[in-house]
Amino acid sequence: MKAFLETLRPEDRDWELAQAIDPARLPEHIAIIMDGNGRWAERRRLPRVAGHKAGIGPVRSTVEACARLGVKALTLYAFSVENWKRPRHEVETLWRLLRYYLRQELPELQKNDIRLQAIGRLEALPEPVRAELDAAVEATANNRGLLVNLAINYGGRAEIVDAVNAVLEMARLEGSLAALRMDEDLIATNLYTAACPDPDLLIRTSGEMRISNFLLWQIAYAELYVTETLWPDFTRTDLLEAVVAYQKRERRYGGLRAGAADAPSDETLIPALGSS
Ligand code: FPP
Repeated sequence: MKAFLETLRPEDRDWELAQAIDPARLPEHIAIIMDGNGRWAERRRLPRVAGHKAGIGPVRSTVEACARLGVKALTLYAFSVENWKRPRHEVETLWRLLRYYLRQELPELQKNDIRLQAIGRLEALPEPVRAELDAAVEATANNRGLLVNLAINYGGRAEIVDAVNAVLEMARLEGSLAALRMDEDLIATNLYTAACPDPDLLIRTSGEMRISNFLLWQIAYAELYVTETLWPDFTRTDLLEAVVAYQKRERRYGGLRAGAADAPSDETLIPALGSS
């Protein structure tokens, strides 16, 4: 955090926000639904794909800010299993942008010790996209700083189905299928994100109050933060504001606020049930 503050100017709002962040309570994993590219473009009477292109800058600045802050993992929803329904030229532009991003950013990822991973049904990606993605993942595999998960051809339900099938397949190979009992650990350890902690903070841009099939299992206890800002306008300031808001929340995981437990149950409020 000290190193991060040194990159900021005290007269900037980001400096003030960064000062308000407690480094000991940073979200370990931030997940983002990057929404609003189309609306950003429509408001400027530009084609939708111009919004996607303008969405690259915030990807870059968010990755950099998370790395500097000391966040451990960042998961970005880049392409959902449902996004194939979009016009072909829009889908093709998204693949082109992804390849452009990988080429442009690889040196920066290496310099900042950032590890790239892709999650989703990657086998369905066009071959050149897949090859470039695999190469970037391999090139950064030994980095030890921020882990960036790009969710591509990703769906939360599909991920759970894939995890269950992986468990079944393993049991079949081991000959233990008849005795198999599913439990939460078995599913969690077979998700695409098994190697990182569940997200603490889920950010969605452009004001929609939806989860859109993103990380359904992993966000069970995540804090949700929705901003009206459209993704292409999302800046480091927006990210810092989300982290400050997150740190003001009290996470209870189904328990009670400290000091909120009251006296043993009062039978005048809820009469005891007879045995009949
Ligand atoms: C949602 O906006 C955004 C997407 C479907 C794609 C996200 C892609 C990028 C941010 C650019 C490239 C990303 C990487 C990782 C290189 P929308 O089109 O649904 O917006 P709308 O709801 O306003 O129509």
